[in-house]
Amino acid sequence: MRPDGRAPDSDPPVGATGGGPDDVRTTTSAAATEALGAEVARRLRAGDVVLLRGDLGAGKTTLVRGAAAALGATGRITSPTFALAHRYDGAAVRIAHLDLYRLAGLGEDDEDLIDEELAGDVVAFVEWPGPAEALIADRVALEVELAHAGDDRREARLTWRAAR
Ligand SMILES: Nc1ncnc2c1ncn2[C@@H]1O[C@H](COP(=O)(O)OP(=O)(O)O)[C@@H](O)[C@H]1O
Ligand SMILES: [Mg+2]
Repeated sequence: MRPDGRAPDSDPPVGATGGGPDDVRTTTSAAATEALGAEVARRLRAGDVVLLRGDLGAGKTTLVRGAAAALGATGRITSPTFALAHRYDGAAVRIAHLDLYRLAGLGEDDEDLIDEELAGDVVAFVEWPGPAEALIADRVALEVELAHAGDDRREARLTWRAAR
């Protein structure tokens, strides 16, 4: 801890408007992380983008799975690591699920693809948003930072960027 009482890893990302996370949760199973996804989904609207950060296996896709199911997606929700983007139909909105892990930077084609995926009435979840952050910053409603906390424990730090 530093004198100001915050752990170094709680520093807001560069460009963030607020301070630290609004809400820090610990889950102890994949099902609990899915339930957290379902909970946040209730606060999302068409046009929102959710950024998901955290190491491999931290639970980003698991959280999206719960959120997408809560939004009415019925199919299997799998990692779009290789496809870059998956789309699901929710009950009232379409859902875009991106994973930009494999993108080192953004080429023009990548920008077009991301624009296309985020166009219209979608709620979008973006894992490893790194290279696309500038492009999508103004649509970010929520940032979720997931971290391993031993065995099946995960810590989720939620930072809402849009008033809800
Ligand atoms: N509390 C938990 N929350 C989320 N996933 C968990 C948890 N405990 C164990 N797991 C397991 O960890 C893995 C998380 O994978 P995934 O969601 O694909 O991570 P990421 O998308 O961050 O790489 C899954 O195999 C899941 O079953
Ligand atoms: Mg993933």
